[in-house]
Amino acid sequence: MSYEKPRLENIKAFDSWYDRAGVRSGPRRTFAEDADILKEFFPVHLVPHLGHPQVQQSEGPIQRYLSAQHLFQWLRFTSHFEVAVVNRATQRIAEGSSGLELPNWACLVAFQIYVDEGYHSLYSLDVLRQVEERSGIQALPYDFQRFLAKLDGVGHEYPDYRLLIQLLQVVVFETLITSILMDIPNDRSVIEVVRETVRDHAIDEGRHHAYFSNFFKYLWGQLDHGTRRLVATFLPSLIVQSLQPATRPATAALLKAGFSEAKTREIVAESYNRAGVTASIRVASAKTVALFEQLGVLDIPGSRERFVEEGLLDP
Ligand SMILES: [Fe+2]
Ligand SMILES: [Fe+2]
Repeated sequence: MSYEKPRLENIKAFDSWYDRAGVRSGPRRTFAEDADILKEFFPVHLVPHLGHPQVQQSEGPIQRYLSAQHLFQWLRFTSHFEVAVVNRATQRIAEGSSGLELPNWACLVAFQIYVDEGYHSLYSLDVLRQVEERSGIQALPYDFQRFLAKLDGVGHEYPDYRLLIQLLQVVVFETLITSILMDIPNDRSVIEVVRETVRDHAIDEGRHHAYFSNFFKYLWGQLDHGTRRLVATFLPSLIVQSLQPATRPATAALLKAGFSEAKTREIVAESYNRAGVTASIRVASAKTVALFEQLGVLDIPGSRERFVEEGLLDP
């Protein structure tokens, strides 16, 4: 089977970037009303350990503390990820050092994405500080380096492909559709400043999704067969690593909230069992996997089996 080399298609969504991007046109999100802090920090259905019976039976302030900590770690994760991972590769595309020949417009759009992501980092931290202040709950320390080391561990035995893998990390992450970005903007039980920020973010990410889907089509079209085989083995692991639930921050928050070590271990193990985690990763990555399938990634010998092994496809 042969694939024609596609050109990088122009992304119409960026034509209106100067008027529509959050950083260009959106207001700073702040608490509109004092009572807003009494709403949910994060929807319980998106946080497995918050729905655990032992947590559900705990006192209200403990549940709120755990929910706030989950929000804080998610905001911190976002704030780090955007600059450390997304912009690491986006910068290479923007300045023309990604190893791909790209038209000028594609480099300029990459700089627009770079600016968007920097702003997403800023407002994630801004909202964290505002919520800390209003709630009186201090965010626990957060270690992004551990996540980054694991993500960068995928394919680390191929140093010559480091840049390509960094580009793939971004393609994967920017084409995933997480339930956080989908559900929170419509959830009226959540603190308004959180909802509005997630809505702003989701709108920008819709444009990024279009860019990186096309970018991957183009990138895949440039690769020789040997490199395609290698890429096909990295992609399932990159998806799984990108969507790993944050069990260490959950553990730290449960301990701080007063659960014993044994109870904490039990709650985390039961809330993040392999089947449940795999099911949620599969939902979030369905569009990404469909894109790969459409481009023939799964036709590479052994590739479909790797996706099945990781639980991303049925056998
Ligand atoms: Fe973003
Ligand atoms: Fe993005």
